[in-house]
Amino acid sequence: MQHSRNFMLLGSLLLLVGISVGIMMGATGDHSLAPLHAHINLLGFVLMTVFGLVYRSFPNMAASGLATLHFWLHSLGTLLLLALLALLLTGSISESAMFPLAPISEVSIFVGIVCFVINLFQNGK
Ligand code: HEM
Ligand code: HEM
Repeated sequence: MQHSRNFMLLGSLLLLVGISVGIMMGATGDHSLAPLHAHINLLGFVLMTVFGLVYRSFPNMAASGLATLHFWLHSLGTLLLLALLALLLTGSISESAMFPLAPISEVSIFVGIVCFVINLFQNGK
């Protein structure tokens, strides 16, 4: 149950950041941060809120160790990926400097989602 709340709290904080970037883009007319804005809102707020609500609906899933693994893999992977994307899109780092941290963050998110899917099949009833 704790990860349900943690996912929703972190997702809501990311929504604040995501819409702030959206408002900034609207105000300045510079839309170069659109992919960052999109993924803060989608990978952050939307997915984390859906995960939080699924764990709230299926307490057996929330009680599984897979939920803990999923929470940390998704959260750390997402925060790392978003930080790298922010640095890339603001021109602070080059695309080649994304290696190897970007693939690591993507694998972290992917493996977290594999945990979620296995957990859903095993305990989502
Ligand atoms: C106050 C709230 C928001 C503002 C002011 C805002 C503003 C913007 C702006 C200015 C763009 C760039 C558009 C372009 O260059 O074509 C954009 C793109 C986008 N926004 Fe938002 N946005 C907001 C909330 C959201 C939310 C809540 C989501 C998702 C849950 C979202 C998802 C997206 C996506 C996916 C794109 C990229 C679209 C594309 O490039 O194809 N936005 N937004
Ligand atoms: C590991 C996770 C993910 C990675 C590595 C990833 C990567 C990418 C890349 C490389 C693009 C093209 C960007 C561009 O052309 O500038 C993209 C676009 C997009 N992705 Fe993702 N994505 C991920 C997860 C997601 C998720 C979970 C969603 C939705 C729930 C999503 C929604 C979108 C949308 C709407 C666009 C088009 C918006 C835009 O270009 O600004 N992505 N993604």
